[in-house]
Amino acid sequence: MTYLETAAQFYSQVAQTPEVGLCCVQSTPLQLPGLKIPQPMQEMNYGCGTTVHLGELANQPTVLYVGVGGGLEALQFAYFSRRAGAVIAVDPVAEMRQAATRNLEIAAKENPWFDPSFVDIRAGDAFNLPVDDASVDVVAQNCLFNIFEPEDLTRALQEAYRVLKSGGRLQMSDPIATRPIPPHLQQDERLRAMCLSGALTYEEYIQRIIKAGFGQVEIRTRRPYRLLDCQTYNLSEPLLLESLDSVSFKVPIPEDGACIFTGKTAIYAGSEPFFDDGAGHILQRGLPAAVCDKTAAKLAAYMPDEIIITDSTWHYDGGGCC
Ligand SMILES: C[S@@+](CC[C@H](N)C(=O)[O-])C[C@H]1O[C@@H](n2cnc3c(N)ncnc32)[C@H](O)[C@@H]1O
Repeated sequence: MTYLETAAQFYSQVAQTPEVGLCCVQSTPLQLPGLKIPQPMQEMNYGCGTTVHLGELANQPTVLYVGVGGGLEALQFAYFSRRAGAVIAVDPVAEMRQAATRNLEIAAKENPWFDPSFVDIRAGDAFNLPVDDASVDVVAQNCLFNIFEPEDLTRALQEAYRVLKSGGRLQMSDPIATRPIPPHLQQDERLRAMCLSGALTYEEYIQRIIKAGFGQVEIRTRRPYRLLDCQTYNLSEPLLLESLDSVSFKVPIPEDGACIFTGKTAIYAGSEPFFDDGAGHILQRGLPAAVCDKTAAKLAAYMPDEIIITDSTWHYDGGGCC
């Protein structure tokens, strides 16, 4: 069996016998007015953060959801896109598709606004998405791409890029590792399927997103996810995994590199009322301006005594300037 088949077999099992808390961080699923999440769907919350970002969901976007799980996020996306086929949810595991279908039928009974036709569940996988080029506004995946080996991750990212419209968003939540995961864990297919040993470091994960063509990446949340202890995982030092929620935009990569927003701001602390770098950034004295990491580095190098760069907050949701 390949590691992808091992993962499919694992998710077939947890579709039939749910494992509460398999992947999720200690957070309750996003609650929305008038949304009731059925109990069996909550028990199958196999995500590690959230991909449902309210600011990205105006105008009833068409969403392609990869790896449907119990259907929780498909339901949350459907909350914002209340029309037949607005959410296309893809999964290669028949038992998972059946579980999601059942859970969405329960959701329809508990949520008067919801109709199961809003979510179109299709067989398929992350490497062959069953939709046309440039046909969806949002691609979302939660706690799936980290399972993939690096070259497969690149393929999955390129496939997401293919199906997105120009300007479309790839909304992801995945574990990342605070240092490279040793080979003996990476090669453990079951741990990989459980989202515990396939994670890349932050830097490698982001570079692969950019390599797939995304010109702008925004970090929404970064927080502790799991600790791999020495005894259980045969490590010389414990290894912390984090969960990273990001939104990547299908926009051209600027000549001087992609814009990555991690919550940094630039503050002009000089004697003039404002500072203009002549490249589109005007900083009013004393007022923090959100900037991408590339601009933050350039401004810091240009005027280290007069421009203060604040640390990454790992939360950014718009309003900045590259
Ligand atoms: C960790 S679960 C996440 C489920 C869901 N996203 C959630 O947040 O609860 C991974 C999901 O991806 C599916 N999956 C496994 N291999 C896949 C592949 N190659 N392509 C797409 N989905 C896959 C599994 O069946 C499962 O539904």
